[in-house]
Parts: sequence; C-alpha cells; structure tokens
Amino acid sequence: MRKIPFSPPDITEAEINEVAEALRSGWITTGPRTKLLERRIAAFIETGKNDVDTEADVARWSNRVVCLNSATAAEELNLRILGVGPGDEVIVPAYTYTATASAAIHCGATVKFVDIRKDGDAVTHMPEMDYEDLASAITEKTKAIVAVDLAGIIADYETIYKIAEEKKDLFHPAEADGTPLGDLNHRIQTAIGRVAVLSDAAHSLGASRTFRGEKKYCGAIADFTSFSFHAVKNFTTAEGGASTWLPIEGVDNAEIYKFFQLLSLHGQNKDALAKTKLGAWEYDIIGPWYKCNMTDIMAGIGLRQLDRYPGLLKRRAQIIAKFDAACDELGISHLRHYTGGSNSSGHLYLIRIPGITAEQRNAVIEKMAEQGVATNVHYKPLPMMTAYKAQGVKIEDYPNAYNYYANLVSLPLHTLLSDEDVAYVVEALRNTIKDMKLC
Ligand SMILES: Cc1ncc(COP(=O)(O)O)c(C=O)c1O
Repeated sequence: MRKIPFSPPDITEAEINEVAEALRSGWITTGPRTKLLERRIAAFIETGKNDVDTEADVARWSNRVVCLNSATAAEELNLRILGVGPGDEVIVPAYTYTATASAAIHCGATVKFVDIRKDGDAVTHMPEMDYEDLASAITEKTKAIVAVDLAGIIADYETIYKIAEEKKDLFHPAEADGTPLGDLNHRIQTAIGRVAVLSDAAHSLGASRTFRGEKKYCGAIADFTSFSFHAVKNFTTAEGGASTWLPIEGVDNAEIYKFFQLLSLHGQNKDALAKTKLGAWEYDIIGPWYKCNMTDIMAGIGLRQLDRYPGLLKRRAQIIAKFDAACDELGISHLRHYTGGSNSSGHLYLIRIPGITAEQRNAVIEKMAEQGVATNVHYKPLPMMTAYKAQGVKIEDYPNAYNYYANLVSLPLHTLLSDEDVAYVVEALRNTIKDMKLC
C-alpha cells in the first residue's frame, strides 16, 4: 500500500543551500534577501516572469510588495493601511478559511458574511460569493469586500468592482484624525472613493485571468492582495506571506510601503539594518503596533522556490489533467482550473460527489485513508465554527455554502506526487465510489 500525504512541502537542495547561506551571512532577520524577494515577487506579479533582473532597476520594483510572516498578517495590515476599524463593516464569503474574517475582526471591524452561488461559479465551479447577495450586503458602513481566490482560481473581480462602483454613493471615506496613519487612511479611502476590493490570494500566487480585456496576474487585480507562503501552499517560506496593492492616485507607493514596515515592526522608525549604520542608534516609536516581519531565512527559501515556481505550476497542471479525466469518467463534479480566460495556480483539487450527505462524505474520507490516501475538506463554512456561531451567525442562512461543503472532498495535490501516485489516488477513489455504491 502507498502512503500519499495531503500536502508536503517541496523543498530541494537549492532552498536548503540558500538558507545555509543566509545563516552564514551574519544577517538572518529582515534584510537583503527579504528585499530581493519583494522585488522579484513584484516583477512576477506584473510580468508572470520569475527571471526579471530586478537588480538592474531596483527602484522600478521596490515599494510594491511587502513580505511578512503570514497571509493573516498581510490581510490585517492591508485593512489597517486602508483604515478599517471599529464601526466599519467588511464583507467576506461564508465559504473560506477563518483568516479572511478574523483579520477584519482583529481590526475591530464587523464581518458580514455572504453566501456563495449555488454550486459555485457556473464555469469554474469555484465557490464564489453570490453577487446579488454581495450587492445587498453593502451599507454606509461597508469599507471593504474581501474576495477569496479559493483553490487558486481568481474570483470575478470585474463583477465585484462593478458592484462597488454602483454602490459608490453609500461610501463615506474616513476623516483624517491628525495622526500620520489616520491621514494616510483618509487619503487612500478618498482616492479609492468606493468600498475597497481586497483579494485573499492565499492560494493563488501565479494565477492569471482576463481582467478588463487584458491578461493579469494575481496581485495586479484587487486594490489590495494578500498571499500565503505557509508550509502547505504551492510556494512556501515555511511560514510567510506578502501584501501588495495597486497604485493609488495621489499617494506615493514609498509612503504606503513605509507604513507597512512601521505596522509590521513595532511602529519603530528604523529597522535593524538602518540601525547598524555608524552612530545611528536612535529611533522613535510612532505607534504601538505589531511584529510580523519576514526573516531573511524565510526569504532564502522563497528566492529558490520562485526560481522553481513556473515548473511547479506546470506539474500541478499535469496532475490536475489526470484527476479531471478520472472525475469526468466517474461522474464526479470538480473544479475547472483552466478555462478560457482563467489559469489557476492549481492549489487545491476539490471534488463533489453528487447526492451524498456529509456523513457519507466522511465515510469516503475514511475509506481513502484506509487505502493510504490523505484527503481533506476545504472548507467547513465559517458559520459552522464555534467562534462565528458565538457571534450569532447561523449556517441556515448560508444554504449554498452548506451544500457545497456537505459532499466535498479535497484530493491530495502537490508536486511530490509521481505519476504512479496520481494513478494510485485515482484507483483508491474509484474503489471507494464502487464499494460505497456512490454515483
Ligand atoms: C483562504 C486562506 N486565507 C488565509 C490563510 C492564512 O494563511 P497564513 O497561514 O499564511 O496566515 C489561509 C491558510 O490556509 C487560507 O487558506
């Protein structure tokens, strides 16, 4: 019997050597490797290329991406840069991981959940928000909509922006409060002039989609985007994440970048590198803020992962093609990662077995485990979780999210799977379906 883990990290000697180099270099916290990774991710997001020589034009690629210690931190800092706080509402799909919602709660905002479309998007089957429900959820208090590019498939931002524009009259930008951050928040909200569109792109680095007639990569579509580089993600730095944003009229990117640095490093106006300059010990604390910076050890893993990333995305596409063929033959519904204008990052392979209950689904997961295949469920909707139930949210109000979850299984999808492993997973699924007389 084979043992197929769900999502082990794909780490080679290249990543190991880069980490060793970082350790030997004498600089292990945020420093040159982190800054280089930020520039390279900026170039990747704009061009889809991982080999742009960002050293040739450092200024061009600087101040556009901020590497942090997680996507959760990136989501929270995106909201704090935007100026979301107590009294504000943030709209989040009911079908996502907790971080999409908890980041807004950390900022003191109120989360409003929106159900997904029945069976997800008509083409990709990705569990996107119901856009009519989204439009009706926007009030005078709404400051942000956080869409989720679940499984690596980019959501329909054209529709989301259209809704935000249509509801523009309800939007009131935050007043300046006389503090440097409050002033930035005011200028950003005024320049955007509508509810901001945020992307939880924890799964979707490297995905692309036709947006307003042009091919755009994830990170170059929403007003603010957050990526995850957690150990189970396509692209990992063990733990880690990044924020990026679109240029905001009248606000300098360098200023936004500076505030991300301040928010992620205690509100301290000099980082460790700046303090090493001769005689430059003195610093100020301009806000009692957070600590969520990326270290150069993590960035070292990321630099070498980025070298390999296009190859990793290709391998995911090959595995997905094999799973697609098997599911189509078995009559199992699955995500469509590669459709006309949309190329996913192929992060998760979600299947839905027609007509089964949540109990039968759990039995499928057990039968797969008995055959050595680890599977999972992405996701149990947030209104079913204790923390959100305690806030008065009820799953009965999100029937599409519940139905999507009840018959869903996530198959193992990662780049350590050999072709034989993929065939084995398919065979285990076939046996399970047959034994349980499903489909
Ligand atoms: C949709 C989504 N958003 C956010 C996160 C949080 O990522 P991180 O662990 O990097 O904070 C995850 C992690 O799994 C996720 O799946």
